[in-house]
Amino acid sequence: MVARLSFQTQRFPVKLYDFHPPVEDFRSAVLEGLSLPQKAISPKFLYDKRGSELFDAICQLPEYYLTRTERGILQTHAHPIATCLGGHTLVELGSGSSQKIRILLKAAPQVRTYVGVDISRQHLQEACLALMQDFDALDAIAVCADYTQPLPVEQIPEIRDHRTLGFFPGSSIGNLEPMEVVTFLKTMAVLGELIVGVDLKKSATILEPAYDDAQGISAEFALNLLTRMNRELGANFERQQFTYQAPYNPQAGRIEMAIVSRCDQTVRLGEAEIHFSRGETLRTEHSYKYTIEEFQLLAMEAGFQPIQVWTDADQFFSLHHLKQI
Ligand SMILES: C[S@@+](CC[C@H](N)C(=O)[O-])C[C@H]1O[C@@H](n2cnc3c(N)ncnc32)[C@H](O)[C@@H]1O
Repeated sequence: MVARLSFQTQRFPVKLYDFHPPVEDFRSAVLEGLSLPQKAISPKFLYDKRGSELFDAICQLPEYYLTRTERGILQTHAHPIATCLGGHTLVELGSGSSQKIRILLKAAPQVRTYVGVDISRQHLQEACLALMQDFDALDAIAVCADYTQPLPVEQIPEIRDHRTLGFFPGSSIGNLEPMEVVTFLKTMAVLGELIVGVDLKKSATILEPAYDDAQGISAEFALNLLTRMNRELGANFERQQFTYQAPYNPQAGRIEMAIVSRCDQTVRLGEAEIHFSRGETLRTEHSYKYTIEEFQLLAMEAGFQPIQVWTDADQFFSLHHLKQI
């Protein structure tokens, strides 16, 4: 993987390492996903600029307990967590708007370098710029890359040459299948230590509205993928012919988010024709929920030692500090 760009300008003083996947990767992933018996597209493609904005709106929803609960844990335990950070370079995976990291940066002024890693380039650059403006002594570096691929650390001296700690909040790890979690954590061993946000198992009456809210923003977030495929891949999805669902599957311990076809229909994507039957689903995301012990077992299988877990009073969410064994 070659960084296509690494620059700072006076107007945009954030160093960017750009490993952004090309449109051709999006096209081939979509064509492959739409040819599966259970149609599926990776959640990483939900985050174009509009998708990132919609995700920020989801974080404000009353039903979306995840963001405010994880923020609460970070605020309550900011000092012990800050102690773990030491003078490490902080590498945030799936950094989004880089909001939660602010709580830690305030508690850990000794941290001088922050590396945000995200697939949504413009959103990432804006978030890093805002951090540099608000934290005078901080150097914020943007790495636009797919974190499900090994991080090209050899090309990022800020990671290669320093002791690092990876921060992976937002329950993004829940989007990976459990066996993928082990592979992912193994590739992140390069960071040495991790703090990972993991959503805990709870009642479907709390889980389902969090992923299918009354205002329809979660639905809009998923259906934006159709708009993105129309714009970037020349597809002809008709948005009003699709709807959205997010049931909890208690056996699998996951929310299953999907776009649902309202009718029998055929969609064109370049040369390809894709048929949808009425009620057929296109999976956009799984969001796995774990007990603390279930997640620790996966971490240990990946070669990490669980050091500490922080939770909220309701045991809705957990933050795990892991060290490579
Ligand atoms: C669930 S949001 C979490 C955002 C933020 N960390 C938080 O806790 O609120 C997931 C973030 O990860 C990014 N993302 C999703 N898949 C990714 C991938 N494969 N590689 C890099 N970034 C990814 C998205 O652009 C988005 O910013």
